[in-house]
Amino acid sequence: MTHSAADASIDQFKSKIQKREARVGIIGLGYVGLPLALLYSEQKFRVTGFDIDARKIETLAKGGSYIYRIAAEEIQAAKEKGFSATADYSRLTEMDAIIICVPTPLNEYHEPDLSFITDTTHAIAPYLRAGQLVVLESTTYPGTTEEVMIPILEKENKAGLKAARDGEQTGKKFFVAFSPEREDPGNTTVARRDIPKVVGGLNARASDLAGALYGSIFNRTVPVSSPAAAEMTKLLENIYRCVNIALVNELKLLSLRMGIDIWEVIEAASTKPFGFHPFYPGPGLGGHCIPVDPFYLSWKAKEWDFRTRFIELAGEINTNMPYHVLASVSSALNGQKKSVNGARVLVLGVAYKKDIDDLRESPALTIIELLQKDGAEVSYHDPYFPAIGRGRKYNLQMKCADLKDIAKYDCVVIVTDHSDYDFQQIVRESKLVVDTRNATRGIENPKVVRC
Ligand SMILES: NC(=O)c1ccc[n+]([C@@H]2O[C@H](COP(=O)([O-])OP(=O)(O)OC[C@H]3O[C@@H](n4cnc5c(N)ncnc54)[C@H](O)[C@@H]3O)[C@@H](O)[C@H]2O)c1
Repeated sequence: MTHSAADASIDQFKSKIQKREARVGIIGLGYVGLPLALLYSEQKFRVTGFDIDARKIETLAKGGSYIYRIAAEEIQAAKEKGFSATADYSRLTEMDAIIICVPTPLNEYHEPDLSFITDTTHAIAPYLRAGQLVVLESTTYPGTTEEVMIPILEKENKAGLKAARDGEQTGKKFFVAFSPEREDPGNTTVARRDIPKVVGGLNARASDLAGALYGSIFNRTVPVSSPAAAEMTKLLENIYRCVNIALVNELKLLSLRMGIDIWEVIEAASTKPFGFHPFYPGPGLGGHCIPVDPFYLSWKAKEWDFRTRFIELAGEINTNMPYHVLASVSSALNGQKKSVNGARVLVLGVAYKKDIDDLRESPALTIIELLQKDGAEVSYHDPYFPAIGRGRKYNLQMKCADLKDIAKYDCVVIVTDHSDYDFQQIVRESKLVVDTRNATRGIENPKVVRC
């Protein structure tokens, strides 16, 4: 392709975006991919979702939703605008842009598991055509887009296509970019389209195209110079949170020993109009991002003979928090001449944070397992989870308890402070409350132990 021919095809693509004629394909219809599909659909794009989970495809086909905060009506409205979901990758040829939102977990050795990205890339390659834009959104270490994804796409596509790079104008090309997802589940203070979208293309044209695509649904796009810079941006954001949460968790442990209320201290420090951003202690990290993403970077750093000590230290402190909760429950029961062994314990809230329906990496799961290991008879309550079955790292097979029976437990442990809970009533009716979230602030009662 000559320079001017390439420019003409970019202009054509951008005009299709402007006229909402560009077809958008989103691979991975989970917590990230499904809302993104709906956002494009709201802006009148015809969106096709791709997923390997047959149950999700089936639910969407019936106009239903499987994510708590997405109403079925939103799916139905999108369907009316042409949204559909499929497991048939051959339909990728119909797409102008392909956005990948598949999981990036850690394996059992705490190393990056890129299998979802590589499986998806192998599946896309045979259907790739010239001029298409492929964007990776999954959080990952710097280098994934260029070192892992592009070589597979270039090697396995049927037309001998190459990714468009600066300084190479000949031959048929496809475009590649990385653009991290920055959603904060449960946060209703910022509308999704107001979260600036960072975009790093493999070359200027890819950045331009991806910027135009995202600019149609986000109010602001932030171009960076490469996919690696965009990959690193996401990791910096999450490592910043992980390290600061560890710092405040450590200071909480010290404050408890010193008889100082860390929550009061954070509130006071937050009044500083500059140079301080509050982070809050808790029972341990949860979710798909903060406990996982930093280790993508520490793994990659080893290739560069580099140790990311802040990440490792933060990981150590945060991982220890569920053990601190166990020790606090044990000490609280001890104060009532009881032991964990044989105690009836209710874990209140199992989602990894308040007001969401996500159990991934939740510290509540570790706390339940630790209590059970020490002989407690554990129940749980969470308005978002009628039952807890089997996950990647747990197999609990428990049913949500009835809050009416709260008085029968020797100890109630507040792990997730969902807004639905009436903590006054919970304290009033319980024998003993261990509060890991400061949910009982302002309630002065000797039954309450804050930890
Ligand atoms: N959940 C968040 O709040 C959040 C925020 C920022 C970034 N992220 C990142 O976004 C990415 C996706 O996270 P998520 O929370 O949406 O995950 P998720 O598990 O909710 O969804 C992933 C979806 O991908 C599908 N999938 C897996 N392999 C596939 C394949 N080969 N082809 C098609 N579909 C496939 C799964 O069936 C699932 O529906 C991860 O990298 C995560 O770190 C998530």
